[in-house]
Amino acid sequence: MKTTIDQVPNYVGEEVTIGAWLANKRSSGKIAFLQLRDGTGFIQGVVVKAEVSEEIFQIAKNITQESSMYITGTVAEDSRSPFGFELQVKSVEVIQEAVDFPITPKEHGTEFLMDHRHLWLRSKKQHAIMKIRNEIIRATYNFFNENGYVKIDPPILTGSAAEGTTELFHTQYFDEEAYLSQSGQLYMEAAAMAFGKVFSFGPTFRAEKSKTRRHLIEFWMIEPEMAFMDHEDSLQVQEQYVSYIVQSVLENCKLELGTLERDISKLEKIQAPFPRITYDEAIDLLKEKGFEDIKWGEDFGAPHETAIAESFDKPVFITHYPAEIKAFYMKPDPNRPEVVLCADLIAPEGYGEMIGGSQRIDDLELMEQRYQEHNLTGDAYQWYLELRKYGSVPHSGFGLGLERTVAWISGVEHVRETIPFPRLLNRLYP
Ligand code: 4AD
Ligand code: MG
Repeated sequence: MKTTIDQVPNYVGEEVTIGAWLANKRSSGKIAFLQLRDGTGFIQGVVVKAEVSEEIFQIAKNITQESSMYITGTVAEDSRSPFGFELQVKSVEVIQEAVDFPITPKEHGTEFLMDHRHLWLRSKKQHAIMKIRNEIIRATYNFFNENGYVKIDPPILTGSAAEGTTELFHTQYFDEEAYLSQSGQLYMEAAAMAFGKVFSFGPTFRAEKSKTRRHLIEFWMIEPEMAFMDHEDSLQVQEQYVSYIVQSVLENCKLELGTLERDISKLEKIQAPFPRITYDEAIDLLKEKGFEDIKWGEDFGAPHETAIAESFDKPVFITHYPAEIKAFYMKPDPNRPEVVLCADLIAPEGYGEMIGGSQRIDDLELMEQRYQEHNLTGDAYQWYLELRKYGSVPHSGFGLGLERTVAWISGVEHVRETIPFPRLLNRLYP
């Protein structure tokens, strides 16, 4: 029976054939242990000299790392194996012999590993991170579909900048100048006026000259947008969504979290509601924590966010930032127009801002005023203004950065390991 490693629990005592690669190997004169992987999982193949032909034993003994094969054997339960099963090998048919696979089980530097990302992805740790990423994506679709949202795909090539013009990738669109999308938000607002509750999931691009553990040039964002929901309603969606994805990973990625040695007790606490502090309170907290120079009106950097996060064991919302340091579309607090109805959700354990969101300006006159202040002239923004002309309603939305979320939940230090092929300041290869 041809099958895959994840299916072997269904075949205990039976003979199966698996297409696999050799991850690692140990052998003595009498026995060879083959660490096999096929993408769906890992299993140990045990080849006993006395039980196979001499030819098969020699193949097993000499097979090289990352060689591909069809391997046939009997499935047995094995409580010592982290996967619970082993394959008692009867025969091995090599498909291709791999010579000098560059990523050996010994230690390598990060640059070397990043240069070999196309091969590094095969390692157990990278495999675990990508499986967690996949689970977060699956949970995202489940959460929003279960809650009545429609998935809408905003364009990638666009003439409209949502988050300011300094970090745009410019490209030529025939005779026009265009950008790669830095956020689908403006389009998602149009979609919310058509479908009520919508979400997007797609790549976004920022030509940011930042070289930190939290910044990618190309990253994936989930952007929900909800008609008839105010700032407070949106915070509730955010905390429920984040709790849902964390609990989904805890339930469905036990093996992967184990491989990554993630402290699960920290994730188990991630249940809505999440704490909220205002920007003003955050300034006070930072002063108490030794950032004496921070002034009202300044934006927070990574050290500030990390210091704030230390005071909480759940993600924390920082709300009501000064309008001048936030985007043009955010709705001013009616009681205090110098701050806006917005929140950044700061992840625990130093992973930084994972969500940025706000209630949007729904008033035509105020939006026109913002257009003047921000010099948003031209056709690229006229359509967005029209959303305030034809049945404008209170609405809110947010963007969750997938890679920062994967980094936090997986407990990996740097976002470069949370996306299959990271685009970094100095890296377009592989
Ligand atoms: O706070 P940002 O810039 O918000 C927006 O783009 C809004 N238009 C979203 C919306 O309301 N629909 O980005 C949202 C999130 C951040 O909180 C962060 O998680 C992630 O996107 N992010 C990045 N992730 C990796 N690398 C970068 N360079 C990132 N920039 C933002
Ligand atoms: Mg932000």
